Amino acid sequence: MSELAKIELDGKVYELPIITGTENEKAIDISKLRDMTGYVTLDTGYKNTGATKSAITFLDGEEGILHYRGYSIEQLAEKASFIEVAYLLIYGNLPTQSELDQFEDSIKKHTLVHEDMKQFFEAYPSKAHPMGVLSSMIASLATFYPESLDPNRSKESKNLTIHRLIAKLPTLAAWAYKNSIRHPFMYPKNEYDYCKNFLYMMFAMPTEDYKVDPVIVSALNTLLILHADHEQNCSTSTVRIVGSSNSNLYSTVSAGISALWGPLHGGANQEVIEMLEQIHNDGGNVDKWVLKAKDKEDPFRLMGFGHRVYKNFDPRAKIIKKACDDVLERLGVNDPLLDIAKKLEKVALEDEYFKARNLYPNVDFYSGIIYKALGIPSEMFTVMFALGRLPGWIAQWKEMTENKEPIGRPRQIYIGETNREYVDISKR
Ligand code: CMC
Repeated sequence: MSELAKIELDGKVYELPIITGTENEKAIDISKLRDMTGYVTLDTGYKNTGATKSAITFLDGEEGILHYRGYSIEQLAEKASFIEVAYLLIYGNLPTQSELDQFEDSIKKHTLVHEDMKQFFEAYPSKAHPMGVLSSMIASLATFYPESLDPNRSKESKNLTIHRLIAKLPTLAAWAYKNSIRHPFMYPKNEYDYCKNFLYMMFAMPTEDYKVDPVIVSALNTLLILHADHEQNCSTSTVRIVGSSNSNLYSTVSAGISALWGPLHGGANQEVIEMLEQIHNDGGNVDKWVLKAKDKEDPFRLMGFGHRVYKNFDPRAKIIKKACDDVLERLGVNDPLLDIAKKLEKVALEDEYFKARNLYPNVDFYSGIIYKALGIPSEMFTVMFALGRLPGWIAQWKEMTENKEPIGRPRQIYIGETNREYVDISKR
């Protein structure tokens, strides 16, 4: 017999089923609670709420474990390509060689964007943040592919939209950057793999030869894998909730990009590097900034520290820290910001305030330093995160649509005025 939770309300005991996941995570199933009792639950920020059952990503915040479809992030980051991981997340298993070849070929067929879209770029101000440009461009794709408007039309059409999106996001992301520096757009080169092609479109110029450094390609591959999915975080929950209204995939992912932009989520990677620069320009006194972060009167927070779920360590941060050392050494970069980052990490990890609140460096603490070493400007950091997170958003959306989940529509507890009489404006 399955386990039951008991809840007593107004003197009456109700029994609620307990659900156990494959990794032994337990949940009280309250899906019938309101019908049974008239009560709803209240959980701002969804800190205790499981929004779905999912077979994509498992993470254990206490133990610092992250698995995609049962494979550890450590193994995938060391051995797989980003496109292989994208296939794994979206279709559930590691691809065979022929499945991977077909997937890559299909993506390569769609790397160009409609020429008319180039005109959109011209309308943006030169200082436009590339995340704003990217989310608008991705939403605009729906206007070029009206057959995508019904996301459940057919399996083939769903796959075509998925492949188009994976193919075009790097082109649009690189063009958002080229546009911001008013350099000519570079068209994709389909002989290159996904990461190399993106770097080519970002950094090549029509006037000169551009050789993509394999160290940089490999670092980018690792970074994208580390960001590829992270179960029900803010942007992924946004994707699932927007997609639950049967909105098309392009607008759904565009909403995810907007959610990711915020500094408490993906936008933190840009903020980390800006914070390190600020500390460096201020003389590098790390203790002073740690004190500021602890001061409740001061809005300053140590960006790149803390995580809603990881309360011990972020396994991605461990891998990134090592990748960061390797990349800086192999590229011969000596970045004073790295010294500040290391000092900050040491001071914060020994400090009672941070220890008591389980605040550890997260994935964004080191990613910005690598991106900087790769020559990627700080305004593009969150775009890089979006590039990595895309397969996760798609996988979560696909799972939700295939499981025919209902439209997302939380309840609330109303705490406003009750029954007021309308007062004529002359009498207010
Ligand atoms: N610096 C100083 N104090 C902090 C920090 C920080 N970075 N993060 C949390 N705290 C304190 C916070 O003030 C609170 O203290 P108290 O209990 O005394 O009121 C306590 O720690 C708990 O914080 P919270 O805001 O309630 O925790 P949360 O789970 O709601 O927020 C977070 C998680 C990631 C939004 C938060 O830690 C934060 O703002 N970190 C900085 C931004 C950042 O690096 N975000 C990237 C997250 S990783 C990438 C991703 O997946 O999006």
